Amino acid sequence: MMTNRTDGPPRSHGGLPLDPIETASRDELRALQLDRLKSSLHHAYDRVPHYRMKFDAAGVHPDDLRSLDDLRHFPFTTKADLRDTYPFGLFAVPRDQVVRIHASSGTTGKPTVVGYTRRDIDTWTELVARSIRAAGARSGDMVHVSYGYGLFTGGLGAHYGAERLGLTVVPFGGGQTEKQVQLIIDFKPDIIMVTPSYLLAIADEFARQGIDPRSSSLRLGIFGAEPWTNEMRREIEQRVAIEAVDIYGLSEVMGPGVASECAETKDGPTIWEDHFLPEIIHPETGETLPDGEFGELVFTSLTKEALPMIRYRTRDLTCLLPGTARTMRRMRKITGRSDDMMIVRGVNVFPSQIEELILQRAELAPHYVCELHKEGPLDSLTVRVELKAGAALDGSSAHGAASTLAHAEAASALAHAIKSYIGVNATVRVEPAGGIERSAGKAKRVVDLRPR
Ligand code: DLL
Repeated sequence: MMTNRTDGPPRSHGGLPLDPIETASRDELRALQLDRLKSSLHHAYDRVPHYRMKFDAAGVHPDDLRSLDDLRHFPFTTKADLRDTYPFGLFAVPRDQVVRIHASSGTTGKPTVVGYTRRDIDTWTELVARSIRAAGARSGDMVHVSYGYGLFTGGLGAHYGAERLGLTVVPFGGGQTEKQVQLIIDFKPDIIMVTPSYLLAIADEFARQGIDPRSSSLRLGIFGAEPWTNEMRREIEQRVAIEAVDIYGLSEVMGPGVASECAETKDGPTIWEDHFLPEIIHPETGETLPDGEFGELVFTSLTKEALPMIRYRTRDLTCLLPGTARTMRRMRKITGRSDDMMIVRGVNVFPSQIEELILQRAELAPHYVCELHKEGPLDSLTVRVELKAGAALDGSSAHGAASTLAHAEAASALAHAIKSYIGVNATVRVEPAGGIERSAGKAKRVVDLRPR
């Protein structure tokens, strides 16, 4: 029963038609996935010596895959595989068929390099277009893109997708915050695509210029490239008077648009499962976990030509949820990466937990950084955060002695909340407004200052 379609989901959105597969039945989707998975495994095995070596070592062959569940017998791919084959060793097509290269700078050593054929770019473009439409774009909208252009996938990925939908694109890129504000005021875009942390810096710049960010033309923000909590979503929606929707992706798997939230539900990104097969695994044992259980997200690409990814371990932590606005499954909004997990005196702490507590406090601004230090043999955590511009505590003004008192009170209140809700002792340093460094792209939430 391959053509069994559901009646529920809408067939178009904001005057923009949906892809038929977005409303396909689960059976239809699974049949397509199985077909594509078989081809993808063969493609990787036949064309990439590194995959062939790994499959052989694990004693598996693409012909062994009879059902989607059989994928669990195949070996994982990690960042180390990309590093070991730097720069182009995992490419499955001759270099002259690669029409684009992107790269993400790792924290250490060489960048992670990814490549796309003409058809890969086309698929990516379609999926970002699908994501922007799902987020609530309307025909005729103007999109201001503040994701960085260049080797980062954010700018060009967003750009091609918005153009494919027929929207007007302003390819601003990151940085020059004053000018971002000027062009938003002058051009009156409807949509902004940017990291949530940089959007807050743009909102601060509006305020600095004496303009209420709520008065801007923006109606919708499509935010991703870094973890952000639902508390942050509420803060942004309230502060800028826009709908804030989550877009997820990673360069190794494609770039932005691997999964994206639907405007009608805003309940975690829908995974575009016709192109990427998700799994959740136990981060330590590698065992595949059932839907609903929390663990590490793993993706297998189903249609990629230049860089097939078989069971790529994202290090992002989430769980798979049933579809709501679409038949495809969702993932819970990603609030942490295993890379960002801090262990403070035996307690696991994610920056997102700190973020939630900061956002509950009216006197604090949503800019923060977690610093890890060493005190004797033990690790210690310092949270640096800012007082909201103009925040008055207990009626005191933000000057002189009253200001010092305000900072001390805010610090001790947050430290108390961190101790009560997370169970760790943290030193909190409250800085004046503007005291935490801003980034024009991904915010760096954890700074490790422990001696090597
Ligand atoms: O950040 C691609 C992207 C660009 C996604 C623009 C969305 C918007 P990378 O630089 O390779 O690619 O970083 C990928 O960023 O594994 C997550 O840890 C994190 N990330 C991306 N989107 C989200 C999100 C791009 N919506 C890594 N929520 C991923 C939480 C996200 N984390």
